[in-house]
Amino acid sequence: MRLLCIFVPMIDNIKAHLKDVAAFSANTADEVAQFRIDYLGKKGHITKLFADFRNVPNEQKKEYGQLLNQLKSEAQEKVKKLQAALGGTQSSKSAIDDVTRPGQPIPLGARHPISIVRDRVIDVFSRIGYGLSSGPEVEDDWHNFTALNLPEHHPARDMQDTFFVQTDPDVMLRTHTSSVQVRHMESNQPPIRILSPGRVFRNEAISARSHCVFHQVEGLYINKDVSFADLKQTLMYFTKAIFGTAEIRLRPSYFPFTEPSAEVDIYWGLETEADYRITKGTGWLEIMGCGMVDPNVLTNCGIDADTYSGFAFGMGLERMAMLLYQIEDIRMFYENDVRFLKQFSSSI
Ligand code: PHE
Repeated sequence: MRLLCIFVPMIDNIKAHLKDVAAFSANTADEVAQFRIDYLGKKGHITKLFADFRNVPNEQKKEYGQLLNQLKSEAQEKVKKLQAALGGTQSSKSAIDDVTRPGQPIPLGARHPISIVRDRVIDVFSRIGYGLSSGPEVEDDWHNFTALNLPEHHPARDMQDTFFVQTDPDVMLRTHTSSVQVRHMESNQPPIRILSPGRVFRNEAISARSHCVFHQVEGLYINKDVSFADLKQTLMYFTKAIFGTAEIRLRPSYFPFTEPSAEVDIYWGLETEADYRITKGTGWLEIMGCGMVDPNVLTNCGIDADTYSGFAFGMGLERMAMLLYQIEDIRMFYENDVRFLKQFSSSI
């Protein structure tokens, strides 16, 4: 009985601690830290109470043990709650202190493939002195057609199906950025060396190969004594920089604003089944149109065609991006599917 009398207060002692823990509150982080040391520290109450365990008589060990475990978990819970309430836990503090801890990954956005290709083309031409020029997407007949040697009723107007602004046949969405070149020539004298990237519109059925809205980069060089040989060298420099090959072929073609005109093919190769498909079994791929600027166009824009000559070229950016990234459907560019766009996050 004597022994029992000694140990009952030990159980009461734990119960008193349980009450104290439940009632404890703190206003500062220091008070919480002190509480943690008092209860959970190496020399704290709980360590001591555990050490006393072996002195507890067998018949009370169970209750003592249960109460002690309860006290420990309630003390731990209390510390956590108070730390959270006082803003910031012990662990987040130490996380900041640990400068070797890996950072939170910040998801990077991706640039659109059309922008990537456009900027590459601009970069390649800027190295040989080409500047940029821009103009309106809603154009008048003169800049989109007439000045470019396409007078009213000229059959070649049908080459580019046009969206007209319903109420006014003189107002349309530009079908190419050649209109920008007209504007530039009207207000600048040679030497002229410009690129005009931009969005263009054609009334075409939407399919995997074509869209009614797409992007072009056109180029224009006007100076004294510019020859077709200069055009060819410029194109070879360009295809080498973008496609890694200067093996090109110029097929005679027709554009109203250039004479002579040509379509440019690059040798793509015939190594894979896909090469057969995209080159239709020939190994050659058409990438752009070009030619020597027709003297009528120079005259229309106020440039002396006896003194100056020049060349122009134009390419579709969607087509370039489809070739460079092996994209089979043009519609992918406009759907803004992040799974598609994310694939370009490592490209510049
Ligand atoms: N403007 C033409 C088109 O849109 C491309 C081109 C530009 C062709 C310059 C020749 C010279 O198809």
